[in-house]
Amino acid sequence: MTGGILSVLSVLTYIFIFLLGAAILGVIVLFVVDYTQNHDAIRRNYPVIGRFRRIFSKLGEFFRQYFFAMDREEMPFNRAEREWVERATRGKGNTIAFGSTKSLEPPGTPIFVNCAFPTLDKDAAETATCEIGPYCEHPYASRSLFNISAMSFGALSVPAVRALSHGAKMAGCWMNTGEGGLSPYHLEGGCDIVFQIGTAKYGVRDSDGNLCDDKLREVAAHEQVRMFEIKLSQGAKPGKGGILPAEKVSREIAEIRGIPEGQASISPNRHPEINNVEQLLDMVAHIRNVTGKPVGIKSVVGAYGWLEEMCEAIHKRGIESAPDFFTLDGGDGGTGAAPMPLMDNVGLNLKESLPMLSDIFHKYGLRERIRIIAAGKRITPSEVAWAICAGADFVNSARGFMFALGCIQSLKCHKNTCPTGITTHDKRLQRGLDPEDKKVKVANYCKNMVHEVEVIAHSCGVDEPRQLRRHHVRIVQDTGKSVALNALYPRPAILPQYTESMSPVR
Ligand SMILES: Cc1cc2nc3c(=O)[nH]c(=O)nc-3n(C[C@H](O)[C@H](O)[C@H](O)COP(=O)(O)O)c2cc1C
Repeated sequence: MTGGILSVLSVLTYIFIFLLGAAILGVIVLFVVDYTQNHDAIRRNYPVIGRFRRIFSKLGEFFRQYFFAMDREEMPFNRAEREWVERATRGKGNTIAFGSTKSLEPPGTPIFVNCAFPTLDKDAAETATCEIGPYCEHPYASRSLFNISAMSFGALSVPAVRALSHGAKMAGCWMNTGEGGLSPYHLEGGCDIVFQIGTAKYGVRDSDGNLCDDKLREVAAHEQVRMFEIKLSQGAKPGKGGILPAEKVSREIAEIRGIPEGQASISPNRHPEINNVEQLLDMVAHIRNVTGKPVGIKSVVGAYGWLEEMCEAIHKRGIESAPDFFTLDGGDGGTGAAPMPLMDNVGLNLKESLPMLSDIFHKYGLRERIRIIAAGKRITPSEVAWAICAGADFVNSARGFMFALGCIQSLKCHKNTCPTGITTHDKRLQRGLDPEDKKVKVANYCKNMVHEVEVIAHSCGVDEPRQLRRHHVRIVQDTGKSVALNALYPRPAILPQYTESMSPVR
């Protein structure tokens, strides 16, 4: 018995000495590697120990998110916002206790103006239908205030697109394909679809990368495809085309896009054939003629002289020639992959560009002709309600719906290693995303969002969200006082020569 214990102990001792020796040898090897390499100054000056810096910075991301960051602190979306989405996806009551954890003092905070006699539940109306593209063969009428913003199949995985497609159908909202073409997964759920034409014309291109009318007709033949959107730019990367890293270009994605498999897919930084507003209007007219469906443009606004130029050109051609809608992206919009300087500091934020765009269209008597769809960090009801007050007819969200799919903001969309299976083509990781479960969450998120925007509208004394106007929201200033949005952005007068074109209601 004692002999047995002694021999086990001696084996353990040998193992320990072996492991210790291996560890010391490992440290010596790392020391030599670090000391002799020349691309990392910290490791060269502090061999081995310098490696902990990188390990701790990686771990820091995790610790900050779960242990140290306060509810309202993180970027791009803080925990309170993400948790609101999560509660909304569960379809249960979205009430919280005790009081708001949101500071209402920072300049820019919107405060909605509740009225003394809010709308009684019995008087509340359903969100009104809004028609897009009255002059085309198949106009589109939609009640859906809140919709799924452009995210391409490629940036998103198969189960993510499937869950969004089914969820959109259940909630009655539309889904934008993004620039990666139309896949069977978009169609699967039966929802309304907006087909986006990016600068590489994925899905509707010929072998030279030019727009192909036959393919356009094929896409338009799907009844579900309700509108076409020409993407000029995106808030996260204005002046830069789409970027799909090589590891995400699978055979299926390559086939749908019309590009080679396994090679990074970089689209041109603008439509090569659109050099000015006249050519833009030509392209709108062409796609509308070929498809018979409403055609709009998507852009983030920085310089804005071209918008007035476009309005003048529209009047010269006749108001039928206008884009049927304008999707305005905020400079702080999201993306699968983009260079940081473009993401951070190029393109105006929606808070400034949305009232401005709406006013330009109003000034030219085109406010009702060109519907405005606003996107950019609108993931909770107050942000959506603000956008409606400021001048949007519809609001789109990309990252809100990613949260509904289970996104944990790990910021790995460009790496094919998304831990929640949303932006990866790794089958093992996709296993975590069950479209059957997530479609219900997508639908619940959308429905609860609309419901709570309605709650804000009723508190302001109007029957439904589309009746919200600028005077219903005040914006906190740096003096601490709030000023009504209609005082900050007063509606300009309609230019006299255009007063006849269309009655501006909003
Ligand atoms: C993963 C991902 C992929 C995207 N792909 C596209 C795209 O293909 N085309 C496009 O116009 N915008 C794309 N966007 C931008 C969104 O459509 C949207 O305009 C922007 O993210 C702002 O909305 P959000 O703040 O709700 O995310 C993408 C965004 C994300 C997060």
